[in-house]
Amino acid sequence: MPETNSPLRILGFAGSLRRRSYNRRLLDLAATTAPGRIQLLVHDIHDVPLFDEDVEADTHGGPEGVRLLRAAIAAADGVLIATPEYNQSMPGVLKNVLDWLSRKDPAYGEVLAGKPVAIVGATPGRWGTRVAQAQVRHALSAMEALVMATPQVYIAGAGGQGPDADPFDAATARRLGTFLEAFREWIGRVSLAGDGRFAAPES
Ligand SMILES: Cc1cc2nc3c(=O)[nH]c(=O)nc-3n(C[C@H](O)[C@H](O)[C@H](O)COP(=O)(O)O)c2cc1C
Repeated sequence: MPETNSPLRILGFAGSLRRRSYNRRLLDLAATTAPGRIQLLVHDIHDVPLFDEDVEADTHGGPEGVRLLRAAIAAADGVLIATPEYNQSMPGVLKNVLDWLSRKDPAYGEVLAGKPVAIVGATPGRWGTRVAQAQVRHALSAMEALVMATPQVYIAGAGGQGPDADPFDAATARRLGTFLEAFREWIGRVSLAGDGRFAAPES
């Protein structure tokens, strides 16, 4: 948890490389409507290459794009992942990022182990990325991330108002705000205070 009065720092990334990605824009919306004292920084995953153990060994833990992402996660109080759904699965680009993050970094160790994580997802489809989110949750549990169980946010029908309209309505913005409040509470519950005790949730 952050020092008293400093904002809660959340690092967000989306499992999409698409310029007009709904999931990236969902994070942007969350960043601009985040409740007070929650700072959401959105990280771009374009610079994370395909995972390769040879590259990992040759670069002593990962190339720069991977190191920057790990450093940003290490500095954050929690991580917010926005996942699309591809063929009732998480997209390959997201699995690739998670595979890199599951590995030990020389400076930070396993950055997601013990890190509070929340998952959201948006799709133009009807089911709101339910299956993809379940897969992300499953993979993160293997990395010993502390994934928030509830509430769960599944955004269906994204972009239904047409390509030039805002893909998300005001109700979605409110849901995101409530979700981030719950994540703040979760981070408070599962984060160890500096003296090794569990930190009390901040209101
Ligand atoms: C290969 C592929 C498979 C897809 N499969 C699904 C799917 O199983 N369920 C779903 O809701 N949407 C599916 N979609 C539609 C995506 O939800 C849609 O492209 C979405 O905009 C991707 O997220 P993004 O906007 O963040 O890039 C699929 C899209 C692609 C390209």
